[in-house]
Amino acid sequence: MKTNRLSDTLTQALNAQMTKEAHASQIYLSYATWADSEGFGGISNFLFRHAAEERNHMMKILEFILKRGARAKVTEIPAPPADPTSVNNCFEKVFEHEVDNTKAIYSILKLASEEEDWVTWNFMQWFVSEQEEEETLAMELLDKIKICGGENASHTVLYELDRDLEKTPDDARLAQDVTTDNP
Ligand code: FEO
Repeated sequence: MKTNRLSDTLTQALNAQMTKEAHASQIYLSYATWADSEGFGGISNFLFRHAAEERNHMMKILEFILKRGARAKVTEIPAPPADPTSVNNCFEKVFEHEVDNTKAIYSILKLASEEEDWVTWNFMQWFVSEQEEEETLAMELLDKIKICGGENASHTVLYELDRDLEKTPDDARLAQDVTTDNP
């Protein structure tokens, strides 16, 4: 008896998204190490925490694929892009990655809707809310940097931003603790 409740198309799309979240984690890790080497310890910690969140997103999708009786495929992760050229550029790149990820999530929702797979559609709603949060966070940070001069932000301002980000709460959670009610 067939117990797989995911179509081949959605299985492939969810596996690709799983790799995309793993890639996002590598990107944040890579930017975090760049920030640290530039002396921005606060920004670096912020990005390290975000790398952990992205890995949790990957695990959340992996668990869903398995729960629906389909085959999850752990595969190679593309290399992260080039290092940012400045703090402003770093958060511009972060924002672009998040928008790109939002688009990928929308396309899975579209597929789920076309197939009338409402379980997958419902599962993906958590990611829609998460993307809204992450885009907002990246936009707020970019706004702050722009107000402070963008590419021309002074060392004093960057020092203060770095210190502020150091103080943001560490809310990375283990995948098994992440639920819709407690994302
Ligand atoms: Fe998993 Fe930043 O999106």
